[in-house]
Amino acid sequence: MPALSTPVKTAISDLVQNQHEPFYFYDLDALHAHLTQLTEQTVVKLWYAVKANPLSSIIQTLDQAGFDFDVASSGELQQVLAQGINANRVLNTGPAKSKRQIEEFLSLGVTTFVAESLNQVAWLQDAAKRHKIQLRILLRIQLRWPDNEKNPLGGDSLTPFGLGTQEWSSLSISEYDHLDFVGLHIFQWGNMLDAEKLASLWQQMIDPLVTLAEQLDINLRVLDLGGGLGIPYAASQSAIDWSVILDSLENIKKQANVDELWMELGRYAVGECGYYVNPVVEQKRNYSSNQLILAGGINHILRPAVTTQAFPAELLRDSTSTPKTFTLHGPLCTALDHLGEHTLPGDITEQDWIVFSQCGAYGFTESMPYFLCHTLPSEYTYQSGQTRCVRPPLTPQNYLR
Ligand SMILES: Cc1ncc(COP(=O)(O)O)c(C=O)c1O
Repeated sequence: MPALSTPVKTAISDLVQNQHEPFYFYDLDALHAHLTQLTEQTVVKLWYAVKANPLSSIIQTLDQAGFDFDVASSGELQQVLAQGINANRVLNTGPAKSKRQIEEFLSLGVTTFVAESLNQVAWLQDAAKRHKIQLRILLRIQLRWPDNEKNPLGGDSLTPFGLGTQEWSSLSISEYDHLDFVGLHIFQWGNMLDAEKLASLWQQMIDPLVTLAEQLDINLRVLDLGGGLGIPYAASQSAIDWSVILDSLENIKKQANVDELWMELGRYAVGECGYYVNPVVEQKRNYSSNQLILAGGINHILRPAVTTQAFPAELLRDSTSTPKTFTLHGPLCTALDHLGEHTLPGDITEQDWIVFSQCGAYGFTESMPYFLCHTLPSEYTYQSGQTRCVRPPLTPQNYLR
């Protein structure tokens, strides 16, 4: 797992001189370097899953690196378009596409959709007919595995994401003259760090997908494998090797005999570029446990409560004090507000700051910011030696009515 680099540590240390509230900090130089390495290949077309982090400067960095954009709501679409990105570079995924949302997306120029139900197909056809346009459609497939393996995207659980092959098999594509069924979409496992396991899951998908495409008389030109590439959150984990992923994808592309493979990456694209910087309120001993109470918790960074997986944490200041094991807690009145157990220098006081890393994806916008009326965290970027506040903090006086 990458440690806090010296320039980032210096920039954050400078910032905290004038800060009292938690904030997010994104290293855009590191992000750009990482993304260009991902796009320097011809195996897979990459979209950015905006849900991972919709901050304007993050979207702009993805744009500069050659990604197109996967949006799951009207808000995400508006945010992408506001960065000057053309709607023909937008893909719309998500199980809740109302007629109203479809109409809005077409009015704004979006023409590529992942359809997740028979209704969505019919509603996309109706809207496309009204607009006298042709849409590119991928059908989202949900397969079942015997493994009984779960994760937030479902794994083997039954979810609302797409439909089973049996349900899709009733679709008669010739009835939809405004829809060009270019391919299939499948995505059921998130945060995978095992490249072999991922390759094996993809491998098992080919047969049922190709069979369904034949059954529906779809000329399978595109296969979209979603996201799911993980990043390490614990010291015992190691990063996934992109070149190994590319080798697997190349094989899948050949075996499925498609012109294009697509993925829409969230976590793997932006997760490693972000930090959540959090002031210590106090250290206390409770029964036999060392507790650190922090100014921000799951109101700013919810993920540990959802996954029970902590973000890596370190003390911002250098210290030679003997390390102790601490449990880290936020300010909310719930035991769920727990940011993990960490080994940190023992001399931490209320003057200190804790820096959580790997926070670039599924950070602030995945959280529960209004509970207990705390200030919403600001977001800073760091690029070519400059720190910039992209979004200032929002106090409760400014959001409560
Ligand atoms: C349809 C779809 N594609 C891509 C992603 C991004 O996944 P990840 O962050 O694992 O790359 C998501 C995340 O929920 C998703 O729902």
